[in-house]
Amino acid sequence: MRQVQLLVNASHFKGKHFISMRDYNREELDFILDTADQMVELEKQGSDLCKSKVLASMFFEPSTRTRLSFETAMFRLGGNVTTVADPKTSSAAKGETLEDTIKTIQNYADIIAMRHPDNDAALRAAKVAMVPYINGGSGSWEHPTQTMLDLHCIRYAKGGMDGLTIGMVGDLKHGRTVHSLLLALRHYDVKVKLIAPEQLKMKPDVIEGTEGKIEIEEVTDLKKTLPELDLIYMTRVQKERFPDPADYDKVKNSYILDKALLSKGKRDVVVMHPLPRVNEIATDIDPLPNAWYFRQVKHGIYARMAIMGLALGVL
Ligand code: NCD
Repeated sequence: MRQVQLLVNASHFKGKHFISMRDYNREELDFILDTADQMVELEKQGSDLCKSKVLASMFFEPSTRTRLSFETAMFRLGGNVTTVADPKTSSAAKGETLEDTIKTIQNYADIIAMRHPDNDAALRAAKVAMVPYINGGSGSWEHPTQTMLDLHCIRYAKGGMDGLTIGMVGDLKHGRTVHSLLLALRHYDVKVKLIAPEQLKMKPDVIEGTEGKIEIEEVTDLKKTLPELDLIYMTRVQKERFPDPADYDKVKNSYILDKALLSKGKRDVVVMHPLPRVNEIATDIDPLPNAWYFRQVKHGIYARMAIMGLALGVL
């Protein structure tokens, strides 16, 4: 029988939305990551590939890295940016629906990157968007561009994902970055340890989304699991997602990784974090070669240049 092979090339992504890690196979992820490799040089040189293109960057939730990195990525591609950084100043504050906002914005922009507090915002927006819509974080659902930068960083830190034992630590229930990351990792030869207190365990539908393709173990003890890990992905307990602040207080200090604890791990264990950190990584780790979280940020530029460049059909 003839094998049907999906041939991924740049035109495959042209005009497409970027919403969820559920939508991608390994070939597609690797293609985007290889494209991000090419962006490393382009970022240094600058380019005019997106000359006359406009990104609308719409952030209805706080953001430092994601918004600035989308915008910087567009500038590095030679394009322009129009932005909503404070929801109070947009018409959403007057009661405009998300759908109407998108139908309006697409008249101004060639591509939209949006962050929104609702879990279903990305899917709702993508349904009406006539220009490529990039999910920059949708409630506690998913944050797929963060995953592309995480994977790109892992390739730099560890040479690739295959063969790694990866620990995700902290608020796995509300953390959208770990939802997207776990879904993407189903395509690689990895073992994943999900390290969280009972109240913050990974959402079952995300585990189901990995389709049984990878070995996943759910545990609560970071200290005990640490020696097995090649990579520790720390996360912040997502205060803003707790209806009752007392519940947040109970779990906010569940895991604190400091130099003493890290010394129990492999010598070359890599520490990543999507940032911002609160107190889950002590600053005594910052000067160590294991600390990748600030270098990780840079990969956001490469990944978002690749994602937007492909969606706009300029790469
Ligand atoms: C994350 C987010 O917004 O989900 N931050 C980011 O985009 N780098 C993580 C977080 O807020 O904890």
